[in-house]
Amino acid sequence: MLRFYSILILFLLLTSCDLNISKENDKDVIGVSEKKNEALTLGSDHKKGQALYSAKCISCHNSNPKKPGSIGPQVYGSSKELLSNKINLGIYPKNYKPKRSTKMMPLQPHSVKEIANLYAFLNAP
Ligand code: HEC
Repeated sequence: MLRFYSILILFLLLTSCDLNISKENDKDVIGVSEKKNEALTLGSDHKKGQALYSAKCISCHNSNPKKPGSIGPQVYGSSKELLSNKINLGIYPKNYKPKRSTKMMPLQPHSVKEIANLYAFLNAP
């Protein structure tokens, strides 16, 4: 019986350690996203953004957004402002220096939510 209790106590100790570790990690994650400011936006889904990017963008942009594509430039790190302006209106944010001077990219209106998802994907570490 004593053995059973000591094993039980050991088990409890171990699991409580695990809990502590995962809480620490949570804190780290929040810390990082706070530091990176807007890099991760709560509520947006980078997987949906990736799906959208694969469906609508990689005919011209590279499937790896850090590299230039067949026609379009690399788009990794694009701000939300750049994405919504370029995709929905075909213009660039004020004082933004476009990577290309061409105006070949067709408009493809997307909702604010979809832009947020794209943004999350294009700014994922
Ligand atoms: C038909 C080809 C094509 C498609 C499809 C396309 N793009 Fe583009 N994109 C371009 C080209 C070409 C440029 C360079 C500017 C221009 O000519 O309009 C560009 C420029 C951009 C820029 C500006 C880059 C910079 O910093 O100057 C962003 C951001 C962008 N595209 C995002 C997207 C996203 C996101 C999608 C999918 C929703 C997409 N594009 C779909 C061709 C395309």
